Amino acid sequence: MTELIHDVDLADPQTFHSDLTDFWERLRENDPVAWHPPRGGNPGFWVVSRHADIMAVYRDNVNFTSERGNLLVTLLAGGDSAAGQMLAVTDGHRHRELRKIMLTAFSPRALERVAERVRENTRRLVAEAVERGTCDFAEDIASHIPMGTIADLLGVPASDREFLLSLTKAALSSDAEDAGEVDALMARNEILLYFGELVEQRRAAPGDDVISVLAGGEIDGKSLTEDEMVLNCYSLIIGGDETSRLSMIDAVRTLADHPAQWQLLRDGDVGLGTAAEEILRWATPAMHFGRTCLTDTEVGGVRIAAGDIVTLWHSSGNRDASVFDDPYTFTLGRTPNKHITFGYGPHFCLGAYLGRVEVSELLSALRTFSRAFEVAGPTRRIHSNFLTGFSSLPVRFEPDPAGLAQYHETRGAKV
Ligand code: HEM
Repeated sequence: MTELIHDVDLADPQTFHSDLTDFWERLRENDPVAWHPPRGGNPGFWVVSRHADIMAVYRDNVNFTSERGNLLVTLLAGGDSAAGQMLAVTDGHRHRELRKIMLTAFSPRALERVAERVRENTRRLVAEAVERGTCDFAEDIASHIPMGTIADLLGVPASDREFLLSLTKAALSSDAEDAGEVDALMARNEILLYFGELVEQRRAAPGDDVISVLAGGEIDGKSLTEDEMVLNCYSLIIGGDETSRLSMIDAVRTLADHPAQWQLLRDGDVGLGTAAEEILRWATPAMHFGRTCLTDTEVGGVRIAAGDIVTLWHSSGNRDASVFDDPYTFTLGRTPNKHITFGYGPHFCLGAYLGRVEVSELLSALRTFSRAFEVAGPTRRIHSNFLTGFSSLPVRFEPDPAGLAQYHETRGAKV
């Protein structure tokens, strides 16, 4: 059955500009653990497409490691330079200890405060856009929310936020096919230098933000190195910015396409939390993650050899009919909804709570301030073999005067 995969190069970002629905369906059916042959100088790798097999690999951190990279781009290049230092590409004892330290900064109390800021920001940005009548949802709203959230977590001063946003755009943005590699590398270095300075400041005067937590953290009696602290600050931007942004953008596009579902949401016939889960399943912004096999083993009855690269395709697992009834139907009220958008097992997304808050606050603001909305011009897709979604989404809103009036009243009362 390997002929299926011969026609599709999953390492090539261009592949994801086509609709792969049929490809994934046939792969799940006929070749659920498929060998993607070496191509264009890249080594071959396994492609796991069924939900149950993806979960099994995620769970198994004895036979599989993230320390040789967890994305196709690093796995194919032979490794990740942050391995053993950055949470997502560290395993075993050190991963557990580092995760424990970072979780201190994700305590319910700290998250509650960050969530409140997400709510305020989202309501302000959406209300302003709805009153203007049109906006580029990606540029004017979505690009500000996750970065604001991460900046809050890190305790980045308000005066530095625009600067950091412009650097992260240059370092990571995947919407241009010819994005300059050198500019991206320079921007990444500037971000790391910036965090280096913040680490120094927080060492001298700690607060309760992630940087202070990392600066005060110890593993086996030893402080983290400056490189470890800086890389783990940066990892929140890598992990939490574009993924959340793409989910929010997709939420608007999908709801504009599904007026009956939008009406259910607006009428309060479906809960915000439940609706956010379906938005996240539907968008699946991170299409894959990956591992390297450490010892000969089996996945879904297929033999995998030590050293093999194994990629886990959320975009397929989240449409697996053995887990989701009618998987190609967008149903905001779907329960249960065991999507794997945030991964699973020991590396399960550290920011899942915040990702969920960002989506549900967006839904809440949309249904309060807008009666309806539509896509009002050409959209632009990002170019990536890892992330999927849109970097431009022009939208026209029909305002809800009552919702907006109430918002201004409560804001007026607060001032
Ligand atoms: C890990 C997805 C939001 C920080 C992960 C993983 C996935 C994921 C699939 C597992 C990677 C692996 O197993 O190799 C997403 C999606 C998001 C989102 C779809 C938004 C919708 C966030 C946010 C933050 C964040 C908001 C931080 C504020 C992280 C970190 C890890 C991680 C630090 C590594 C955890 C570990 O290795 O123990 N994310 N994420 N993510 N995510 Fe997220």
